[in-house]
Amino acid sequence: MAMPTVQTEILPINASQPEERVLAHAAALLRACELVVFPTETVYGLGAAALQPAAVEKIFAAKERPYSDPLIVHIASEADIEHLVCDISEQARQVMRHFWPGPLTLVLPAHSRVPRLVTSGLDTVAVRMPSHPVALGLIRTLGAPVAAPSANRFMHVSPTTAQHVEADLKGRVPLILDGGASAVGVESTILDMSSELPTILRPGGVSLEALRVLLPQVQPPRARSLATPDLAHETEAQKSPGQMLIHYAPRVPAFLFDGLSMSMRHAMLLELQRRQRQGETVGVLIADEDVAYFQSSGASMYVLGSEEDATKVASRLFAGLRTLEDVGVDVILCRAFPETGLGLAIRDRLLKATGGKLIPC
Ligand code: TXA
Ligand code: MG
Repeated sequence: MAMPTVQTEILPINASQPEERVLAHAAALLRACELVVFPTETVYGLGAAALQPAAVEKIFAAKERPYSDPLIVHIASEADIEHLVCDISEQARQVMRHFWPGPLTLVLPAHSRVPRLVTSGLDTVAVRMPSHPVALGLIRTLGAPVAAPSANRFMHVSPTTAQHVEADLKGRVPLILDGGASAVGVESTILDMSSELPTILRPGGVSLEALRVLLPQVQPPRARSLATPDLAHETEAQKSPGQMLIHYAPRVPAFLFDGLSMSMRHAMLLELQRRQRQGETVGVLIADEDVAYFQSSGASMYVLGSEEDATKVASRLFAGLRTLEDVGVDVILCRAFPETGLGLAIRDRLLKATGGKLIPC
């Protein structure tokens, strides 16, 4: 079904001290059940007033997202959570006080006033207090929680700049607030605190190691299933909706090479040459340490940062995938990174981008 087109306004906003006039304009749109795209420290969010189903509905239409994939509700103070969640454990409160505002989403028992559209009918709700001044300012000016998924079309790479959002959602949203590039670059960590053992459903901007300091019993994310969903996978699909690999199809086929640095480079170069002989143009997503090996290979290179610097690599990962897509390469060959710290989220997003096409080397 064709979406009716709207005029999209792109307004620059000061990322550290957002102009009140711009925030008031954006909040007025949200109050009128319209969508507003805003920057967060992780990725850009596609926001709607969370307690107004008519507004939330527009998120799904603009993204072409299935209703079975629930949304994260963004708040600006700990008091805001009382209206969204029932039964908050002392442990959950400690986690909030330690990691909020910041890139951590908590899954908690939902209050009945949270629209079913937001939770996809689950009895839990995902809540996060972002640290980006524009996100916080917008929620405060509205005076109500904001539901926001990443501001990309469903199944595409999350946006870390207003230009990425424009490429996906121009004509589908009335306002994009441009606050520059998102600092973290991967989405928030989703931590399920609604059951006995706190469990990571999606690795993200807060590392497993950081969570373990406060929650020694925290469960790491489950290994992804590559199989098509069947009855055996139904429970997993319900527990972490939107997290199965099958939900992500890259626009350009991509492969993840996994092994020691020297073996990865060797295997990538061989595959690169093989494809070039077939007349394909190839993009490579690599580390600083790989540059010398690929410099004269004829591939389009996107250099993410040092293999030791997960923070930098995470912040550039989505821009790298989008840049190579835009160059128009036929295939993207990606290298794997160490899994410590933000490395766990990097690997997760590379697996998603490659649809699980992992090449051990
Ligand atoms: O960093 C982020 O989290 C960004 C920014 C905008 O805050 N948001 C984001 O939203 O990544 P989205 O919709 O792209 O991913 C949210 C995921 C959903 O796909 C779903 O898997 C999970 O959160 N989720 C939401 N509610 C849930 C619930 N009640 N139980 C389990 N998972 C839930
Ligand atoms: Mg998303």
